[in-house]
Amino acid sequence: METSQDTIKQDCAREALKLIRSHMIIGLGGGSTIGYLIGYIKQAKELHVKIVTPSLKTKLQCLENGLDVLHTETIDHVDLAFDGCDQVDKWLHALKSGGGIHTKEKLIASMADDYILLVDESKVADRLTFEQPVVLEILQDAAAYVKRKAAALGGEPMMRKSAAKDGFTVSDNGHLLMDVFFKQVDDIDILEKDLKAISGVIDTSLFTNVVTRALVAGDSGLRWILK
Ligand code: 5RP
Repeated sequence: METSQDTIKQDCAREALKLIRSHMIIGLGGGSTIGYLIGYIKQAKELHVKIVTPSLKTKLQCLENGLDVLHTETIDHVDLAFDGCDQVDKWLHALKSGGGIHTKEKLIASMADDYILLVDESKVADRLTFEQPVVLEILQDAAAYVKRKAAALGGEPMMRKSAAKDGFTVSDNGHLLMDVFFKQVDDIDILEKDLKAISGVIDTSLFTNVVTRALVAGDSGLRWILK
């Protein structure tokens, strides 16, 4: 059954569609709002766009809907990219914790002229609250070292577990994922830099300098968070 949350996400995706022009290369992340946007792109028969995506699910959904999907490794520039997140704040810091595909998401974000988050009001905070962990994609050999360094930065690191690889979760890139919980973060930008600087960390799910704007949908309509 469709909920008001679905309606809000659809409104957000419909507004996002208005920014897309023919012949653009469009980045699409993951999640339900992006799922609605794919449906709207398909319906807009006059739009001829090409898609790059970090998400296998999104890729399959695009292909099922007859959209052109490019190999990311052949692309050095994206016109416009849309993504979801777990939380975004008024400084456009964002935290993505769920999917474990943040390295590829950040790559596409960095290639994009405009990297726009599509969120509902429940995901917006004045400042990131860190109720969810920062996820690190790490080299297997660096597991113990990264754990020590992340703890020295005030985090509580925990390897993400599943049945996949000797009990550990692996990313699409074949690397381990470490969830790092923080009780207090004084400077979000410095935290991202410090985590990224640890040898063996491929990337973090903290996005501090790459989101250009966020489109927020709520019961009372749509609003933008701008730089
Ligand atoms: C996970 C993400 C997803 O993009 C996000 O959770 C999708 O949200 P929604 O389904 O509400 O569009 O960043 O870390």
